[in-house]
Amino acid sequence: MTGSNGSTAVSDQPVLPRPEGLEGVVAASTALSHVFGEEGRLVYRGYDIHELAGKASFEEVAYLLWMGELPTASELADLRAKLGAERPLPDQVIEVIRALPASAAPMDALRTGVSALGAIDDRHFDETPDLDEAIALTAKFPGILAAFFRLRQGLEPVAPIAEMNTAQSYLYQLFGREPDEKHWRPLEVYLTLLADHGMNASTFTARVIASTGSDLCSAITGAVGALKGPLHGGAPSKVLDMLEAIGAAENVDAWLTAALDRGERLMGFGHRVYRAEDPRAEILRGMAREASTPEFFELSRRTEERALTMLHERKPDRRLYTNVEFYSAAVLSAVGLPGDMFTPTFAVSRVVGWTAHVLEQVANNRLIRPQSEFVGPTDKHFVAIERR
Ligand code: ACO
Repeated sequence: MTGSNGSTAVSDQPVLPRPEGLEGVVAASTALSHVFGEEGRLVYRGYDIHELAGKASFEEVAYLLWMGELPTASELADLRAKLGAERPLPDQVIEVIRALPASAAPMDALRTGVSALGAIDDRHFDETPDLDEAIALTAKFPGILAAFFRLRQGLEPVAPIAEMNTAQSYLYQLFGREPDEKHWRPLEVYLTLLADHGMNASTFTARVIASTGSDLCSAITGAVGALKGPLHGGAPSKVLDMLEAIGAAENVDAWLTAALDRGERLMGFGHRVYRAEDPRAEILRGMAREASTPEFFELSRRTEERALTMLHERKPDRRLYTNVEFYSAAVLSAVGLPGDMFTPTFAVSRVVGWTAHVLEQVANNRLIRPQSEFVGPTDKHFVAIERR
């Protein structure tokens, strides 16, 4: 049979739905988190995100995702002690990061650092992912990024302080001074909001790799690569670029109209699953109002309002709303991070979800191996090279 594109369809293909981008396909069972797209709700292990944001620490949320329940005080103290003890990086990993050019993207440095850990730190990262490895990797993410952040400025990495929490320790290792509460508190809330999010692209990547029987560092290296893309986690620095390019409230309409007329996507809007506002965007908007300058917040708010109006006019059927990335830009820049550290900071949080998903996958594993729809020819004959 010849298809409309001249290709030959293969007759033994099952007649199954083939949604573009796997939209709506159930790829795994999970008890970790769920995105209720129509309602605009996010639930971690039974807790609505509003129950946790600003109340639970990042470490409590990590425990919840890994273990299924919120920790008692002693369980939390134990986890914090383990994270603190696991933060230092092997010297060889620092040397690998040192060898990278200062011009490298921090996400590339993170991906390289995680991959190097898998090759170097045999003590922890053997072939079977387990909770201790998940804790060790989560503990080391901030240090990998902070080492690269400092080395690219010609500064030496700073050793972590075990007693600090993750948000404090990350800022301390980045900037080499004790962080101000007005910086680490919003960062901590941000980290709790981003820790897991259903079967997103990077989580799916991690689960696919884990399903082959591969090791945790391989699964998380792949996930970092998937998160980097602007259609997934790579948008917030582009939100900042957009807001900087707009510059002032009076330019918003003209700038957005021109971008949409060119067929560009507005960063920080739209989502595969949400058909309502992303609940994390709502929480981050409130934090941005507190944490960023009034001018920057007003510019963000005006841009958001006009973008939503224009998107609703142009795509009335698609129901495009603000996603998590839009106000992440305002919050993370208020915390003192440059734009190219936004997506890596997302990863500092999401490594918890990735590792929890890997543990869930290996606990009840079956190789993830879907089919493809074959649309190529099948009846060609070999022609010797001198006759082609
Ligand atoms: N700006 C303008 N148009 C948009 C946007 C946007 N932000 N988002 C979707 N659309 C349009 C598309 O152009 C498309 O129009 P068309 O049918 O005329 O081609 C229609 O809406 C549907 O878009 P899809 O591509 O089907 O949406 P999909 O579910 O595949 O993509 C995505 C979701 C990638 C998030 C998309 O909305 C987007 O590109 N947003 C901008 C990037 C962004 O903010 N990424 C961060 C996502 S949040 C996260 O992963 C943490």
